[in-house]
Amino acid sequence: MKRYVILISGRGSNMESLLDAGLPGTCAAVISNRPDAAGLAGAATRGILTAVIDHRDFAAREEFDAALAAEIERHAPDLVLLAGFMRILGDAFVRRFEGRMLNIHPSLLPAFPGVRTHAQALAAGVRLHGCSVHFVTPALDGGPIVAQAAVPVQANDDEASLAGRVLAEEHLLYPRV
Ligand code: GRF
Repeated sequence: MKRYVILISGRGSNMESLLDAGLPGTCAAVISNRPDAAGLAGAATRGILTAVIDHRDFAAREEFDAALAAEIERHAPDLVLLAGFMRILGDAFVRRFEGRMLNIHPSLLPAFPGVRTHAQALAAGVRLHGCSVHFVTPALDGGPIVAQAAVPVQANDDEASLAGRVLAEEHLLYPRV
């Protein structure tokens, strides 16, 4: 039985899909860098311990990273799962958890790293978009890919419609991984 911690920044729908999937493991905590993350309520409703490490409380990225790492280590997880966690993590933090830290990203990596991936995909005119689960390395959205799901782009898609169909696939892919 693996112990895992989920890191979020906002809505937390991927977190919910992980918590509701009946995974053979225990979610030890959900940690947010934002006190107003809607996903914190979703975790608490499910009886999961929550914590907030607010990045605005720290003057330097390294200090935030150290506090976050200490909070994670308190729960002694086997796996750290980033699910809509929107802070860039420093190299020292990433190395500490490398090989046991995963992220879900809403594009078919290596295409469209970073933010606004659906807008990027529409602007590029690709016919296939999707999502990727990858190991986290110091290269932003650049670690080894574990699994992907493809989503065809439709002629009448806008950012919202495409994002919605990709998100539905994210909710299936991450628990499967
Ligand atoms: C998802 O699309 C995820 O892939 C990306 O940010 C979004 C977070 O959504 N990194 P949610 O908080 O899981 O609902």
